[in-house]
Amino acid sequence: MSKNKNNKPVWSTRIQKKSSNLFAKVGSSLNIDKRLYKQDIKASTVHVEMLFKKKIISLQIKNKIVWGLKKIFNEINKKKFIFNNQAEDIHMCIEKRLFELIGEDAGFIHTARSRNDQVLVDFKLWMIEASEDIIKEIDSTLNVIIKIAEKNIFTVMPSFTHLKNAQPISFAHYILAYVEMFNRDKKRFLNNRECLLENPLGVAAVAGTSFDIDRQYTTKRLKFKNPTGNSIDTVSDRDFVLDFLYSISVCTNHISRFAEEFILWNSDAFDLIKLKDKVVTGSSIMPQKKNPDTLEYLRGKTGNIYGNLFSMLTILKGLPLSYFKDLQDDKELAFKSFDQVKISLQIMREVLNNFTINKKKMIQLAETGYTTATDLADYIVRQYKYPFRKAYLITSKIVNLAEKKGKTLNQLTVNEIKDVDKKLNEDVLKLFNIENSVKSKKSYGGTSFENIKKMIKKYKKHA
Ligand code: ARG
Repeated sequence: MSKNKNNKPVWSTRIQKKSSNLFAKVGSSLNIDKRLYKQDIKASTVHVEMLFKKKIISLQIKNKIVWGLKKIFNEINKKKFIFNNQAEDIHMCIEKRLFELIGEDAGFIHTARSRNDQVLVDFKLWMIEASEDIIKEIDSTLNVIIKIAEKNIFTVMPSFTHLKNAQPISFAHYILAYVEMFNRDKKRFLNNRECLLENPLGVAAVAGTSFDIDRQYTTKRLKFKNPTGNSIDTVSDRDFVLDFLYSISVCTNHISRFAEEFILWNSDAFDLIKLKDKVVTGSSIMPQKKNPDTLEYLRGKTGNIYGNLFSMLTILKGLPLSYFKDLQDDKELAFKSFDQVKISLQIMREVLNNFTINKKKMIQLAETGYTTATDLADYIVRQYKYPFRKAYLITSKIVNLAEKKGKTLNQLTVNEIKDVDKKLNEDVLKLFNIENSVKSKKSYGGTSFENIKKMIKKYKKHA
């Protein structure tokens, strides 16, 4: 790129003094929004093609601009483009270069548009692609989870409520919970498309434009669905950014809950899983340590992502219509959350591919804490037609007895059980088998092995 002869901003005739260097440094968003160059050039190209179609500019000028934009695109792609940091943002930067390449005629590019709609059209185009990218990352993560589930249908462990042992479940059932969570995340990104597919280009600064432009044309060419309906709302609206940041927040919330569970289970106290060397870090003083830093990173970074959402909410709170510089931060927040959720999903996959299950310990823990008590209560209801509350009471007495004797439920003898209720016989002992307990939860969505097999098939079909 030749040395820029004109480094003055476009408003230098009106604003005659050079503005504060200090502010120019912090007020420029170029370093952040330069990643929108592809979208900016695409939208500008479609914009000038529309201007030509509507006879607002001549064929010759249109061709010159399109040529110049293509050249800039190639320069940037080949890393031959110098991002002139005198420019306030990527939009001004590209415009400046266009002037260098084609001269005065570059000035036609900004007919019937403002940076206010320009920045939005670029940003929305970026976000549509970014959302698809995240969905792909989620899909890869889902595939790993489903593979783990397939291998662990018969791996029995306790479920927890209040972190107290609750009922025996299959490890596959547990991990498949995350398939449901991530599937909802995907839906969230897909639902956001409706607003993202409204085309802001053509609302100009705030009031619309006096040129006879064709917004349907740019909408179609840029693959939007409809043009936005109100010029004031369009340049003020960042709801779509909130939707994006929120969807990422929920997705990383799921990652964080997973991370927390795996940290607990990998602990010496739980010892249900073991992270492989690839995903642990050592201590500088304690030679024996293998710490789950990867999982702690995932949990910690979720905080940053919530922060980005809250920053955007706070920026918008009380902001009068329409555009203000305050809004410029929107892109940095979205880019940061996007980069983070992608890395987080990738790291989560690394962890999922690098852990082993302590099956013995899982069974042992599933047998601790009277986890089959509900099975007995259910049996009494079915067998003796007792109301559930009565069956619950009898079962409570049996649990109390086991506790008093320092036994697990499956260590009780028939006689001990009969002491609580004479009607009960040796059939009851089968109920205390944790595998039988898992098998029995056949209700739709329950943990029975049969259900899990069906669900895995279903998830694979829709993958
Ligand atoms: N870099 C600016 C932003 O992202 C572009 C919009 C400038 N519009 C304006 N009226 N100053 O917000």
